[in-house]
Amino acid sequence: MKNWFSMAETLRIFVASILFCLLVALINFLHKVWWMPRRIQHVFFSQGIKGPPPRFLHGNTIEISEMRQNFMNRKVQLSHDIFRTLQPHIYLWTKIYGKNFLHWPGARAELVVSEPELIKELLYDNEQSFCRSDVDRHLKKILGKGILTSDGEKWLKLRKLSSQAFHAESLRHMIPAMIESVELMLGRWKNYEGMEIDASEEFRVLTAEVISRTACGSSYLEGQDIFQMLRKLVVLSSKNSYKTKLPIISSVFKDRYDLEADKLEKRARDSVLEMVKKRQKEISSREDFLGLHLKAHSASDRNSKITVQEIIDQCKTFYSAGQTTASILLSWTILLLAIHTDWQEKAREEVFELFGQQPPNPEGISRLKTMSMIINESLRLYPPSVYIQRKAKKGAKLGKLILPTNTNVHVPILAIHHDPKLWGKDAHIFNPERFLSGVAAATKNNPAAFLPFSLGPRTCVGANFATLEAKISLSMILQRYTFTLSPNYVHSPVQILSLRPQHGVQVVIRPR
Ligand code: HEM
Repeated sequence: MKNWFSMAETLRIFVASILFCLLVALINFLHKVWWMPRRIQHVFFSQGIKGPPPRFLHGNTIEISEMRQNFMNRKVQLSHDIFRTLQPHIYLWTKIYGKNFLHWPGARAELVVSEPELIKELLYDNEQSFCRSDVDRHLKKILGKGILTSDGEKWLKLRKLSSQAFHAESLRHMIPAMIESVELMLGRWKNYEGMEIDASEEFRVLTAEVISRTACGSSYLEGQDIFQMLRKLVVLSSKNSYKTKLPIISSVFKDRYDLEADKLEKRARDSVLEMVKKRQKEISSREDFLGLHLKAHSASDRNSKITVQEIIDQCKTFYSAGQTTASILLSWTILLLAIHTDWQEKAREEVFELFGQQPPNPEGISRLKTMSMIINESLRLYPPSVYIQRKAKKGAKLGKLILPTNTNVHVPILAIHHDPKLWGKDAHIFNPERFLSGVAAATKNNPAAFLPFSLGPRTCVGANFATLEAKISLSMILQRYTFTLSPNYVHSPVQILSLRPQHGVQVVIRPR
């Protein structure tokens, strides 16, 4: 009997403990999904920042997905007025709530800022008030703990290494490898003269070849597996970007996307590791991106030393960042030149004046003025990166606003580049002429009006590399071919992390 009582007592304590744990978990859950959003909204409302009301559990994810889906399914005219169709939620909510507004694209509040003064303050902040925002868990599998996801001392160490690999003198040495890679592509084009090619597919391979050769002394074929896995991870990440994720639960239970992402990450990691090991076996003093990272790995000074895992994450980051964005820039620029054949002709004249039939040389490249104007206008209308994000640290202030800890801050690059108040009534028109007297004049000395590569300490480390690659590729294409838009081209810009031509860019190439 006594035994039975003690068993019943134990059971009672056990059940009570479980109920207590469940109650704590429920309170914790409600605090996160119900109380916190209301409190954060109140903090912003009291400072004059409004926004769409978040729904319980979903925030604004449902509205955002519906609006985007609605526009994605429509047939789009061949117009460069793409902001309202690509980011209809930002377009609509800016109109309703103003240039700075609060929304909930997931579990966390996000302050969208379009006011130039606030953007400058945010991007020039030296980690006093803001740090990198957390990235989606699938994207994290690409970037790991590389430069794009780190802060503080670690970021500084990786930033120094990356800048060294892509500074002006190193870029000069990369020109022959870039020219060889373009030659390889143009060799393939010989089979398609007078016919249609998908330029974006060609540029995907070209830019992969260029980053493999210049950064790692490898080739596209050797790194093919890495690029393929990284591409699949980007698609997975994008599929999940506007899905409701329940706090706690989604971090404990893996769905089928998570399992697939794990497999892809492992394959990408193994391939990079193989490439690193191969290079370690070589007796080489090459000071390219990989060479510099391997040197840092064997450094005795603890402050500069990096781990093998950091090398792997850096390689994945640069293979991904260095290839995707550069290939997208080339794709949109070819599209614009295929439509605006007068500018194609102007660019060609300049190329022949500077290089004749010869391959591009460093002096000539630095004097490609018309081409720079065209590239800037392409980056303005179709910025490969459509936004920049930061996360508020404790006690963060932006202008007069006081931000709750962990609020994300979002700079909508696409919206800014298409804003008629900043760029005039012809903001949606392709007009490279606006960059005739340089970027400062085009933006009326407002650096926050043109942000393709961001601003401040975290500005793109590969900006000069990407523009050099674009100038060399376009010069060599213009020397050999004229091109027009194929009737099969369907204008369908889409945001799959970056702003891409969804169905490629089909052009007909004719030898000159
Ligand atoms: C047209 C081509 C490119 C565009 C539009 C672009 C855009 C950007 C933007 C907007 C950022 C800033 C993000 C921020 O402020 O949070 C960034 C950062 C970065 N980009 Fe690029 N990028 C391009 C090409 C490249 C290339 C070719 C590489 C590498 C070879 C590269 C490597 C990086 C890295 C490593 C960062 C992080 C810098 C840091 O956090 O310190 N990018 N890029």
